[in-house]
Amino acid sequence: MTTSNETVSFTRMDAGTKADYDLLARKFEPYMTESPDRYIAALEAQRHERSSGYPIDRCEHALQAATRARRDGADADWIVAALLHDIGDALSPMNHGRMAAEIIRPFVREEVTWVVAHHPIFQQHHSGPMNGTDPDARETFRAHPHFDAAAMFCARWDQVSFDPGYEADSMERFRPELTEVFARPAFDPVHLCPGEAIGLA
Ligand SMILES: [Fe+2]
Ligand SMILES: [Fe+2]
Repeated sequence: MTTSNETVSFTRMDAGTKADYDLLARKFEPYMTESPDRYIAALEAQRHERSSGYPIDRCEHALQAATRARRDGADADWIVAALLHDIGDALSPMNHGRMAAEIIRPFVREEVTWVVAHHPIFQQHHSGPMNGTDPDARETFRAHPHFDAAAMFCARWDQVSFDPGYEADSMERFRPELTEVFARPAFDPVHLCPGEAIGLA
């Protein structure tokens, strides 16, 4: 039995005992179980950020993108990807695609991780050159097996999800997909599906 305030005996890792590391392992399990709560809290925090200038806040953008994914018949991997794809905006604004990708990488298909990592480049197709970016930057990846999925992710779910008139599902509606995905064993090839290009839906 682990009490909530129980701690290890060491102050440096190489002084730890087996009992110490057993304790850490017992504490890590519920910590992982709470992952969906932490992601939901991080997304909800985006409601209170300084205005980005878009007509809706970043949390609502995430909900719209994920709702569009669900309504397109996408699976849990894609729905979670759409929900979390901009979760790194606050801490890694210039590399936010890769930050989100690293969060989901242990649990979803490699295809989905690749798309989330590269979505900022593919998103430029819809905003450049009006914002000074190259709309054809994605062409670097034209021959990549996940090119079409990334193009569709941005076209159908991301770039259209700034609409105050769109009625998105509530955050709680996404808890089942978040729970399903983050309860998977990390880096399990069954879920990573290396080399497969399944597409969006
Ligand atoms: Fe983004
Ligand atoms: Fe986005």
